[in-house]
Amino acid sequence: MQAIGFGVVSASGLSSMFPGAKNRRVFAQQSGEYSNPLKIPPLDDGRVIDGVRQFELTMQSGSSEFLPGTMTATLGINGNYLGPTLHYRRNENVALQIHNQVGEPTTLHWHGFHVPSSEDGGPHQEIAMGETWNPRYQVLQPAGTYWYHSHALHKSAEQVYRGLAGLIIVDDEANQELDLPSTYGVDDIPLMVQDRKFNNDGSFRYGSDYEDSVIGTHGDTILVNGTWQPFFEPTTRLVRFRLLNAANARTFSFAFSDGREFYQIASDGGLLNSPVPMTELVLAPAERGEILVDFSDSREVTLVSLAKPLAFPDFPGAMSQIIRSLNAQTFDILSIRPRQILSGQVVLPDRMETIRPPTGIITEVTRQFRLSMGFGTRSGDDRGPGTGSRNGRGGGHGGGHFAINGRVMEVDYINETIPLYSTEIWELTNDSPMMHPFHIHHGLFQVLDRNGELPPPNERGWKDTVRVDPGELVRIVMRFEDFADTQNPYMYHCHILEHEDNGMMGQFLVV
Ligand code: C2O
Ligand code: CU
Ligand code: CU
Repeated sequence: MQAIGFGVVSASGLSSMFPGAKNRRVFAQQSGEYSNPLKIPPLDDGRVIDGVRQFELTMQSGSSEFLPGTMTATLGINGNYLGPTLHYRRNENVALQIHNQVGEPTTLHWHGFHVPSSEDGGPHQEIAMGETWNPRYQVLQPAGTYWYHSHALHKSAEQVYRGLAGLIIVDDEANQELDLPSTYGVDDIPLMVQDRKFNNDGSFRYGSDYEDSVIGTHGDTILVNGTWQPFFEPTTRLVRFRLLNAANARTFSFAFSDGREFYQIASDGGLLNSPVPMTELVLAPAERGEILVDFSDSREVTLVSLAKPLAFPDFPGAMSQIIRSLNAQTFDILSIRPRQILSGQVVLPDRMETIRPPTGIITEVTRQFRLSMGFGTRSGDDRGPGTGSRNGRGGGHGGGHFAINGRVMEVDYINETIPLYSTEIWELTNDSPMMHPFHIHHGLFQVLDRNGELPPPNERGWKDTVRVDPGELVRIVMRFEDFADTQNPYMYHCHILEHEDNGMMGQFLVV
């Protein structure tokens, strides 16, 4: 697409080595006007009927104008692209009516939520076209930023890419007493950050580039809440951004163009013990981070993503090039232009929460999960019967082979069975050349250590997705104390959605 404002830089020699790479444009810094006001997804409080907060959501298709003058076919929830921000209160009961009008089977999953597996919205709770699904559950999460998205079998990546995702904000009283910026759309701003690529006719480019099936779909165009080249005008000194990496595959290293310090106050599963000062926040797909930023100086600044290239050896062949090109560039995300006169004060809480380890003392590793991928002529792994070729999705020449403990996810195979009332340590390793964000359904966990070292302070809160770098060993601890169900499994998987769809996923029962 020539018309878009990104300066187009050629991806160093890639195109000659790789046919698909011709279309692989990379970002240029300082490009474009950023003249589109940041869209804020509508806040949906539902309706409380008989003590239950009720929502009606229609998953539908539509079209959206991201790039000026061009329409893009999209999917959305109660709208053309993405969905409303669902506003829940902790401990209340919610009930949802979810209508599928997208023209194919889909599901809707409550990412980060601790709900019965039958209400989870994973691949087993398929909603046929034209049907309605009625999940209900109690909101047991700590106050924080969560999200919902399609989790259709082998179709999550494409459906999320086209727009089937939205945010959930959970509130509670303790959180309200902290006096954090909390006026939605004014000083409490959701930022769903995604990268997309477009065909010349304005349609999303999806599924046609081979490398996307290997490293996951990376786009050259950033959308924030579905806004291309957005700007935001703070009217208060202190702003809370609720950052969600809603990309299929790209990791963002969020920072400000002037290097200013900001404070992370919450991770995936709610508040941290105290605000963590930082100048850069790395979020992999599905990870969230709430940050507080001080705009008292009224200076313009840009939210950017910093280059963080992988240290992957340069050997001849496309795969080395592709992996080395991952996150190799700094690019702009959101232009921020504070008003000259700002209201409010800059007050940071010092103690916000007291995170306790999960109950049930445990020191031994209960389970191990080894993440692997194969590509080119290898089939990746030789353990277990679950080869990629089974489902016709590669595993041989040119097909990605994505596995956990050597197995590709199979719908009828339960990988793990976890006794109720247990606390478990899971050991995650990665013997592939790229990072995988490991996500678990059923609830929140804590990161014990990375390669034997305490995780950084911003990873010491509740998490549901954790980055596992190549060669790394990450240990997490999680408690399983309710929702036993011998029929309906929960999933664990890599949250690079193309990896998940292609088998880097497993299933467990809590019994
Ligand atoms: Cu965000 Cu299994 O998903
Ligand atoms: Cu999930
Ligand atoms: Cu992965």
